[in-house]
Amino acid sequence: MAKIIDGKAISAQMRVEISERCAEYVARTGTKPGLAVIIVGDDPASKVYVRNKKLACEQVGFYSEEIALPAETDMDSLRSVIERLNADDKIHGILVQLPLPPQLDEGEVIMMIDPRKDVDAFHPANVGRVMSGGYTFVPCTPAGVMELLKRSGVDIAGRECVVVGRSNIVGKPMAMLLLEANGTVTVCHSRTRDLAEVCRRADILVSAVGKPHFITADMVKPGAVVIDVGINRLPNGKLAGDVDFDAVEPIASYITPVPGGVGPMTITMLLRNTLTAAEN
Ligand code: GUN
Repeated sequence: MAKIIDGKAISAQMRVEISERCAEYVARTGTKPGLAVIIVGDDPASKVYVRNKKLACEQVGFYSEEIALPAETDMDSLRSVIERLNADDKIHGILVQLPLPPQLDEGEVIMMIDPRKDVDAFHPANVGRVMSGGYTFVPCTPAGVMELLKRSGVDIAGRECVVVGRSNIVGKPMAMLLLEANGTVTVCHSRTRDLAEVCRRADILVSAVGKPHFITADMVKPGAVVIDVGINRLPNGKLAGDVDFDAVEPIASYITPVPGGVGPMTITMLLRNTLTAAEN
């Protein structure tokens, strides 16, 4: 029987801490930390994410601005919006909700954001700082995983950490943070030979693949800590992680559920990055 890592409870606790830090910031400066979220087009999932980000800002006492642009927005118009926000003293964090419509180059758009306001930590300057240490912002999902491990009392130093998935947003920065915490880190991907065997070495197994029930019991060492970053919509409408929870839970020592594990942490880490940006 694994201990269930309750991301909802840990996230709620962190939001209380962020509210307190926010109140101190407001008392000291007379201004609120401010987040601007840009959404281009009307992708329904993106609209839900953006609404949740705005609500979370209000909950902890931030100022927030949502800039909704039409789907046919071109690079020049988006650039002028981002440049205005870069220069706006009320705004400390700028987030461009991804994915963007095809006429917009995501890499170039991210480069338009002032790295000091890049609370997603997607700008190459911030990506580089995660590699070399001395960073201000960490991408929200891997940062959330690190907080879950820390607040659950999981030791990382010296332990075998296996990350499944090598995306720029999750897998790669996740590996860097575990390495910085002195884990021995292996990154697996679609071309990894004998994935099950590599996963079975893990004391800490992090899956960020995006395939339901991808991590099965035979891939998990008894007593391992299992962190499930996947959020997959099943044909019946339910959410499932990457991990076959019912089969893996009895052999793991700690496990995150989906929903209610890593998911709730992501926006909380965005709030923390925004507050850090304001304080700086
Ligand atoms: N789309 C899905 N997740 C994210 C995220 O973390 N940041 C941004 N900007 N867009 C996303």
